[in-house]
Amino acid sequence: MRAPSSSPRVRLLNQADNASASAPASLDPDARVAALSQALGPRAERFALRWVETCESTNSELTGNPPRDDDRIHVLVAEHQHGGRGRRGRSWQSWPGASLTFSALWRFPAGAPVPAGLSLVAGVALAEALERLGVEGIQLKWPNDVLVHGRKLAGILVELVPGRGRTPAAVLGIGINLRLPPGVAIPDQPAVTDLHEALDGEVPACEAVLAAVLEALCRILDTYALAGFSALRDAWQQRNAFAALPVRISGEDSAVTGTCLGVDEDGALLLRTEAGVERILSGDVSLRGLS
Ligand code: BTN
Repeated sequence: MRAPSSSPRVRLLNQADNASASAPASLDPDARVAALSQALGPRAERFALRWVETCESTNSELTGNPPRDDDRIHVLVAEHQHGGRGRRGRSWQSWPGASLTFSALWRFPAGAPVPAGLSLVAGVALAEALERLGVEGIQLKWPNDVLVHGRKLAGILVELVPGRGRTPAAVLGIGINLRLPPGVAIPDQPAVTDLHEALDGEVPACEAVLAAVLEALCRILDTYALAGFSALRDAWQQRNAFAALPVRISGEDSAVTGTCLGVDEDGALLLRTEAGVERILSGDVSLRGLS
């Protein structure tokens, strides 16, 4: 479905805008949605799908203009974002045809507490989907970076949309590197990889990748809604990139070091320090000595 023309920040690309991009053959959003629905099969009914050629940020679109609650998971995919956002105020760089960038708006029950561990849950779903596509060596770096053999393949940005009298929601924004431009250097991301490398050049169509991720998200969010993060904690721990390793957690203006013990029932990182076990709620994790 095409973006409504009344949406101020969504703009469809024209040929000139796209001239320099390594874009795939078809950029027609309607054809993309049709291919995605077909790949999803009967599960397509669970989603409201929208695909645009460009927007500032799919997360900003869904948090700024949350669609009406119709019991479906609303998904916005952008061929290109010109203001993609990452965790902790960073930007997220992507290129048409080189990256898959989308956000899914998921509503949780009114009156429920802030959903604990939700961002780790999105990481588990993404890891499972990529494993089913054949990617080996996937690990999760707290809170939710997806790594392959230590290099970042995908990032997740989870933002809450306050209810203001309506059902509260979370926007799960996901960026997956499909085929990065050769020799690309991304600020704040010293080690990156892409699906092309992870799958030895056999990258499925991006609609098939997205269908696999949406299927996993839907399944795992159903489990999460019923049983909370504790039901998915083991799945996260099994993929913990830094399990039992010496790490450094860098915050805004301080750092703490210790041994990574995994995560607790709320998704907080547990760190054994000289002072005892500490719960870490935010920060960037790196292997001690390598940061
Ligand atoms: C990170 O690793 O810092 C998180 C990156 C999240 C990027 C995705 S791309 C789709 C969605 N829209 C955004 O602006 N950000 C997320």
